[in-house]
Amino acid sequence: DKANYRHFMAKEIHEQPEVIGQTLAHYVDIANESVALPQELPFNFNEIGHISITACGTAGYAGHIAKYWFERLARLPVELDVASEFRYREAPMRKGDLAVFISQSGETADTLAALRYAKSQGLHTLSIVNVQSSTIARESGTVLQTLAGPEIGVASTKAFTCQLVVLAALAVAAGKARGELSESDEIDLVRALIEIPRLVTAALASEPQIEKLARDIAKSRDVLYLGRGTSFPLALEGALKLKEISYIHAAGYAAGELKHGPIALVDESVPVIVIAPCDRLFEKTISNMQEVAARGGKIILITDASGAAEVSKDALATIVLPKMGTTFTPIVYAIPVQLLAYHTASLMGTDVDQPRNLAKSVTVE
Ligand code: M6R
Repeated sequence: DKANYRHFMAKEIHEQPEVIGQTLAHYVDIANESVALPQELPFNFNEIGHISITACGTAGYAGHIAKYWFERLARLPVELDVASEFRYREAPMRKGDLAVFISQSGETADTLAALRYAKSQGLHTLSIVNVQSSTIARESGTVLQTLAGPEIGVASTKAFTCQLVVLAALAVAAGKARGELSESDEIDLVRALIEIPRLVTAALASEPQIEKLARDIAKSRDVLYLGRGTSFPLALEGALKLKEISYIHAAGYAAGELKHGPIALVDESVPVIVIAPCDRLFEKTISNMQEVAARGGKIILITDASGAAEVSKDALATIVLPKMGTTFTPIVYAIPVQLLAYHTASLMGTDVDQPRNLAKSVTVE
């Protein structure tokens, strides 16, 4: 049931404050401001040398964001793969290390094959799934569930942000276990997580502005997405979301890669979505944005009020999100990215919930 929404995707975007809150309540002790995983892990993060994260599509981008978190908060190196490559690469893996799999459906054929390979190599396996009764859940050593509820739209939205919440809690747990995070670091990080449902609600308030911007996007042939740090995988996710439901060609890049090729695409007809929360990479991203502005690119900047105050003049439009701590920004910045894809596609009249050529669950390779 779509409630009062035109599409399941719209309903699922709007459910995020609630389902993120539910997922969070499962992984953190809100009263004590500490991480509290629902079960004891059958391995010790201190004995893990590497994490390998494998998934497909949007779930893969959640893993890509988590790579930054595990490396920064737990000083654990992460290798990230798309499952279709990983399964045939015969990567050397160290027995006793940790392999993480992320899947909304829990039935993605490539991700399942990757899981079986990691198991055969003697790794600890941990899966983050939305469907608890799925094959990937059944076959994994540890299952951490996202409490997003059923996701019907082919474009993954609420499952993605809930995956990020679980990965964030897991990265904090790893940092704590490895002595990389003090008790007060943990409190700060958990407080930041607890704030997220409220921040997501505030981000949803940008919808009327985004609906207007979508009119312009809908007329474009190509759209670029740029970001640095955790905003880089979110740029990849933004481009995927727009492509899959509006059929407009889009590509995401690490902002620093711009001058290694993609800037050649920029002219007055190309919208460039710049994802730039006010973190330690802000100035760097902005200098890339100014290179785009100098070539006439139509910039849509996503930042907070202090970012907007500094640089809005170079942008055609600025989507201003609430001020927040810098670590978990992608969970909140995902909202305007999803809304932009949704409103563009819905203006264009495509089949938003069932885009052509795509299936919700990819059970064949
Ligand atoms: O069910 P899974 O999370 O394993 O699915 C992975 C991808 O097929 C999925 O995220 C796909 O990329 C979405 N349609 C993106 O919106």
